[in-house]
Amino acid sequence: MEENTPTGIDRNLTSYGDVGFSKYIRRAFLSAVGYDQTDLDRPIVGITNTYSEFNTCHGQMPQLMEAIKRGVLQAGGLPFVFPTLTLHEITFSPTTMIFRNLMAMETEEMISAQPMDAVVLLGGCDKTVPAQLMAAASANIPAVSVVTGAMRTGNFEGERLGACTDCRRYWSLYRAGEIDDRQIQGAQQALCSTPGTCMVMGTASTMACLTETLGMMIPGGASPPSGTGDRARNAVEAGRCAVRIARKNLQPGAILTRPAFLNALTVLVALGGSTNAIIHLLAIARRSGVELTLDDLQDASDRVPLLVNCKPSGVGYMEDFHIAGGLPVLLKTLEPLLDLSVSTITGQTLGEILTEVSPPQPWQETIHPLNDPLGPTGSLVVIKGNLAPDGAILKASAASANLFNHRGPAVVFESPEDAARIDDPSLQITPDHVMILRNAGPVGAGMPEAGSLPIPRYLAEKGIKDMVRISDARMSGTAYGTVVLHCSPEAATGGPLALVKNGDEIELNVTEKRIDLLVDTPELSRRKKAFIPPESPERGWRKLFAEHVLPAHLGADMDFL
Ligand code: FES
Repeated sequence: MEENTPTGIDRNLTSYGDVGFSKYIRRAFLSAVGYDQTDLDRPIVGITNTYSEFNTCHGQMPQLMEAIKRGVLQAGGLPFVFPTLTLHEITFSPTTMIFRNLMAMETEEMISAQPMDAVVLLGGCDKTVPAQLMAAASANIPAVSVVTGAMRTGNFEGERLGACTDCRRYWSLYRAGEIDDRQIQGAQQALCSTPGTCMVMGTASTMACLTETLGMMIPGGASPPSGTGDRARNAVEAGRCAVRIARKNLQPGAILTRPAFLNALTVLVALGGSTNAIIHLLAIARRSGVELTLDDLQDASDRVPLLVNCKPSGVGYMEDFHIAGGLPVLLKTLEPLLDLSVSTITGQTLGEILTEVSPPQPWQETIHPLNDPLGPTGSLVVIKGNLAPDGAILKASAASANLFNHRGPAVVFESPEDAARIDDPSLQITPDHVMILRNAGPVGAGMPEAGSLPIPRYLAEKGIKDMVRISDARMSGTAYGTVVLHCSPEAATGGPLALVKNGDEIELNVTEKRIDLLVDTPELSRRKKAFIPPESPERGWRKLFAEHVLPAHLGADMDFL
């Protein structure tokens, strides 16, 4: 910070053309709620309030805000809670992905326009944490992340279960006629037994782990379940930390470096984490001025085995991961593959933090040691080929190995809405078909989590559990199946997915990391000339989004941010 840069309550003064008046009137208004000079001489810590009654993942946020405030006050700071946009996967239409960049932009502006020396980014649900990190990277003021924590698991008919890998599994069983109405309703009541984020290694859990890996969270902060003492203590410590980094002016730019992002990719692969996290990491890196590409992901995937036994790649849940020691223990076992010199908000390097951490203990089965991995390297695969020249993603650890090298005829769905036809028997879809969903990329539809198309009911009833599915959409981090996602360039901008016709042969070859449309080049050129882009939104944010969103392989941020 420049020596004369105002701090505390004098930061970001309202412009009245008279600095003295701006300071005087700000204090006058703050005195209305009891703040005096003793209060206002302290470092100011903003706390983002993303609570909403719609957002059940943030249901215990009010208690966490109080815990953070306590930490700020203990450390000699003055906390100010302020509202920002919130995003909830299950109550937003058509997809929160359209609004991640809006939240990032709004949060950045709220951080930058108000007087705060540091900010505690309190989020949790899938898009909130990446949006907040994008905002912090752009605003570049000291920031510490706190998440609301995962839900506890529920129980139905003697089976432990949770959101939302089991949501999908139960729904598939229901579609296949293997469970009845009473059972699906019973499961519905047991899948989300407490407030908090999805308790498998979905996007929220993955992003919490990656945020801790990046050094933007108090160590151990990713895994405590919602509503626990561990979760609250982490929030108190984050409040204290915010005051420390405010005093030191420790900015995200010193923490969000390329080695930190490469560490995050290493952890992502070891987690068997969400494919959505790839897009978010690319976007956060871009905001941080760090070059990060899908090739970096493939490099990590080639080096790092699957170590964490959580759904959908394994069998456990976040509370198991927490009991096993959480992210610090995973980082400890990954130590030889990490850059330990990276800085964190604690002021310590990652290597210094890990000197206090023990390796995975034999009494637990959730975090495997590097010399006894749960699965091989390659849990996430970057696929290229003439259907995805700029790349696509397959979560191999949650796919069916017998479909890794598959050739079959295409059946095409023009949009997420068009996929409603999937149960129509006249389509005569067989298990060998390759189901294509297009116009579901960032420009086409805001990139919803529509990529894991359901198995057609008449095939599910015959016991078919998986088929090759290809799209420019995303899929939930809690989902599973042989689903090739994020095909780039997307169909709506004329990408090759737009050229596929029903019956075209498609070949997926995971060994060679290729996805190809087996149609000759002259015919593809003819189809390309006949391409007509779909209609775009006409007004508002959705128009701005469609006109300026970057492709998935670049992080799907706005081109002007
Ligand atoms: Fe919020 Fe899953 S819906 S984390």
